[in-house]
Amino acid sequence: MANQNEATEPNAEVIAVYPNRVKISVDDLSKFSTIDSQLEKLRVGSYLEVSDDDNHKLIVIIESYSIEYKEDKVIDESGEERILKNKKYIIEANPLGTLVNDKFQRGGDSLTIPPTKVRPASADDIKKIYQSDVTENEKFSFATLLTNKEIEVPVNGNKFFNKHFAIVGSTGSGKSHTVAKVLQEAVSTKNAGYDGLNNSHIVIFDVHGEYKKAFPNSNYIDIDNLTLPYWLLNSDELTELFIDTDANDHNQRSVFQEAVTSNKKKHSKDDALTKSKIHFDSPLFFDINEVLQYLKYRNTEQKQKDTTIIWVDSTGEEFTFSEKTSSRLFEKGLKIKEKGSATGTLNSKFINFINRLEIKLNDKRLDFLLNEKAKNITFENTIKQFIGYSDDTNKNSNVTIIDLGGIPFEALSITVSLISRMLFEFGFYYKKKLNEDIDCETPILLLYEEAHKYVPKSDLVKYRSSKTAIERIAKEGRKYGVTLGIVSQRPSEVSETIFSQCNTFIAMRLTNPDDQNYVKKLLPDTMGNMTEMLPSLKAGDALLVGESITIPSLVHLNECSSSPKSSDIKYIEVWKEKWKEVKFDDIIKEWKK
Ligand SMILES: Nc1ncnc2c1ncn2[C@@H]1O[C@H](COP(=O)(O)OP(=O)(O)O)[C@@H](O)[C@H]1O
Ligand SMILES: [Mg+2]
Repeated sequence: MANQNEATEPNAEVIAVYPNRVKISVDDLSKFSTIDSQLEKLRVGSYLEVSDDDNHKLIVIIESYSIEYKEDKVIDESGEERILKNKKYIIEANPLGTLVNDKFQRGGDSLTIPPTKVRPASADDIKKIYQSDVTENEKFSFATLLTNKEIEVPVNGNKFFNKHFAIVGSTGSGKSHTVAKVLQEAVSTKNAGYDGLNNSHIVIFDVHGEYKKAFPNSNYIDIDNLTLPYWLLNSDELTELFIDTDANDHNQRSVFQEAVTSNKKKHSKDDALTKSKIHFDSPLFFDINEVLQYLKYRNTEQKQKDTTIIWVDSTGEEFTFSEKTSSRLFEKGLKIKEKGSATGTLNSKFINFINRLEIKLNDKRLDFLLNEKAKNITFENTIKQFIGYSDDTNKNSNVTIIDLGGIPFEALSITVSLISRMLFEFGFYYKKKLNEDIDCETPILLLYEEAHKYVPKSDLVKYRSSKTAIERIAKEGRKYGVTLGIVSQRPSEVSETIFSQCNTFIAMRLTNPDDQNYVKKLLPDTMGNMTEMLPSLKAGDALLVGESITIPSLVHLNECSSSPKSSDIKYIEVWKEKWKEVKFDDIIKEWKK
């Protein structure tokens, strides 16, 4: 094709070759741009081919272009000297890799000097770049090349989902649409030969309540139907919920731990040996009201100094407190009989703790954790609700949306933590049960919107639980088929541990210089300049970079089929409407719920 065009091709030549840059001079840019009619106009980010022959082409990406004027002195027909201004376009470009016999390889060190021909890369050649690394079966596609919408840019779907991915960009850059597109694509991709749902399992932690609209058939969980049993919380989470962490009172912690462990043993139906292995973190039922009762007794006991306390139960039987009898303090209606002389009273140590616990138990906003339903739900049903398995198989669902909107702020971290941890542990134990030659039967993706809200760089106590749980998945999840999708408008504020484990990044428009620099660090040195494009990207445009894609590429995300709900209120349009009456009662009722 190149030969055919040669006569009409404008003069374009490589005028300098550096290790990671080539400089090209072009006489007539518009002619040069349209050599290949399939291509859109050349612009920064477009691909060119530099070659010696047709079987060996260096693919470069335009980083900048400028105009140079050259002044030539000429003598015209009448013998007078005149200055002729020559306009030349200077294109600077970065090598991406070479196409050798239609196979693309990254890196561009094998160009012989001086290269002879330069032309815009043909659409066919660009397609070859993206097809080189990925087989038809692994191909996963949700975007096209920014400079040519005809060219699909697939990623390796196995690598994309197996190794955690991140979507970053300022507000309005298109992150939520990207999430919707990627996940809709994942849910709809199928092998031939069966009807119904595919085997994708996706959990979205939705902060703004925007994904229900994008996934109308999802398993939708919000504060009104979420059941999260408090008894599955681990030691950190329980401590975060019930103990005043600022007080840092060791006594409170140890008596609470003792009560919970002992109560778990009491309710366990196992034999004595198995019971002896039960610990604070065992995922077993305990009754929080019984624990409260226990604390109250221990509190009374603390008041009496230098006194042996004898407990008397409702039948009149007496006992003293010991490890053996500790579980009797879960009983109601015990009375105290003192022995010895009381020399004074200590301030009851646990009174603040007890008050705090009672307030929590009466807090209606925490019903999803502490109500009867949360007490009685089984371990199995708790897990099933989060990965879309239903007793009615018609109601199974690929996508589970956990709408965090109504979760009280102080319980947000433990909610995210408990769900994430349970799904990770589910993957862990599932794998243990499998044959060695099967890696995972139900890979799960956990997607976190606004991730800086629960996995920030900050070490504040209030983020500890969710951070620990998600960081653990970042480090170990992929062995057990549990992957993270991290979405954030402030990548520089998200935990480094999390991002350092992400292997594919979809970086959308980013205006903050710290965040831009963050993305720059992800790119190979030769391509760091691509981040200069980040502030000027349009909604839906992205820099796609990472292990699952052949080369870092500027792409445009395809439109999703149903879009997430926009949180933008159309102020001026709503204001233009007629004055609206408001049903204050209804609102207040909702408020008080
Ligand atoms: N791939 C896309 N193509 C075209 N427009 C898009 C695309 N993605 C997003 N947009 C537009 O950009 C706006 C913001 O998108 P959104 O996903 O809500 O951004 P973010 O989640 O980053 O705040 C939306 O109103 C949407 O119409
Ligand atoms: Mg969003």
